[in-house]
Amino acid sequence: MKTLLVTGGAGFIGANFVHYWLEKYPEDKVVVLDALTYAGNMANLVSVESNPNYTFVHGNICDQALVESLLVENSIDTLVHFAAESHVDRSITGPDAFIETNIMGTYSLLKAAKKVWLDGDTVFDGHRFHHVSTDEVYGTLSATDPAFTEDTAYAPNSPYSASKAASDHLVRAYHHTYGLNVTTSNCSNNYGPYHFPEKLIPLVITNILHNKDLPIYGDGQQIRDWLYVEDHAYGIDLVLQNGRIGENYNIGGNNEWANIDIVKAISVLVEQEFAKNVELAERFPQARAAIESNTASLITYVTDRPGHDRRYAIDATKTNNELGYQPKESFETGIAKTVAWYLNNEQWWQSVMDGSYQNWIAAQYK
Ligand code: NAD
Ligand code: DAU
Repeated sequence: MKTLLVTGGAGFIGANFVHYWLEKYPEDKVVVLDALTYAGNMANLVSVESNPNYTFVHGNICDQALVESLLVENSIDTLVHFAAESHVDRSITGPDAFIETNIMGTYSLLKAAKKVWLDGDTVFDGHRFHHVSTDEVYGTLSATDPAFTEDTAYAPNSPYSASKAASDHLVRAYHHTYGLNVTTSNCSNNYGPYHFPEKLIPLVITNILHNKDLPIYGDGQQIRDWLYVEDHAYGIDLVLQNGRIGENYNIGGNNEWANIDIVKAISVLVEQEFAKNVELAERFPQARAAIESNTASLITYVTDRPGHDRRYAIDATKTNNELGYQPKESFETGIAKTVAWYLNNEQWWQSVMDGSYQNWIAAQYK
């Protein structure tokens, strides 16, 4: 039985991880620590709200004293660290928050973990600090380069990926220097429920429903390697159960798509849903393009992202061989579930987009 502290558990992947964990390990206790930035949303955790083994704490990972008290008071043995500023475009226009949360916040957690688990009268050997990182730390690939392995040299290109790379190095150093039991996973692009609609896939789905342009940066030929979010949670689970201390594990689904192709594929899927279910045209009367089956006409090429990485691809051989990891969801099933989730959860995405949920949260916590 484990007691987990999950940082960033009100965000996209963190919330999916909390759902996954409490369902798979109903005896375990999960404490979520989240600052509820624009990306963190209590609505993502509504389904576990009444679970007696779940606790939510509104707070910042940079608050070392708070983290120490949570580790002690809840007898935490496993810290799973998702909290981050995660959007590359925001890191280009405003890097400060990325340096603060991703670097200083991770440093604060490491200091708290060392103090509580290693520096007391008795060392607590059964601890684990799992750091959730990204494939973006490896930089960019050409069309013919082999996929990133755990041995690929770090070469981050955006303020976001540079801040994640710095945090990965700090985590590594805390193992090497102080003996903290750390593991790190580097995952490719996730998609699925609760994905904030500033990211490509949910942005495209919700823009189709609002009959807005589908913005394609540059030539749209950039490649991303997409993984259903629950398969990321499953990969982290395997690393927590059987991963070797001090190691990095790549997690990915062998599923490379050019941006323009994924946008076209989603357009077709949404149109098919509208064709199958006449109620959708009544619920989303503004979705003219989907109703008239000319969604592709919404595709609009826009100025490219500065420093845009051309291609990411994960080689997960180590995780596959050592931990027996294989994604459970195919892209076909995962994207169909995702489109269905957005069609069925309009209230969620409308509220996160217009900020009304954030206003409600601010009122609860003021
Ligand atoms: P997200 O932006 O959806 O969620 C981040 C969460 O962290 C939010 O709930 C936010 O409120 C919280 N948070 C931010 N700053 C905080 C702070 N200072 N203290 C406490 N909480 C804070 O992000 P995501 O897409 O769910 O990503 C989660 C993690 O996974 C990140 O570390 C990211 O780098 C990594 N990752 C993401 C992807 C992806 O495709 N989204 C892929 C690989 C790795
Ligand atoms: O690779 C893992 C990373 O994936 C994570 O570490 C990041 O947290 C996560 O945000 C994601 O980063 P990307 O930059 O790859 O994701 P995003 O959804 O922002 O963009 C995906 C691709 O689509 C990218 O090539 C940029 C492009 N794009 C994005 C948006 C929002 C567009 O062409 N138009 C858009 O409007």
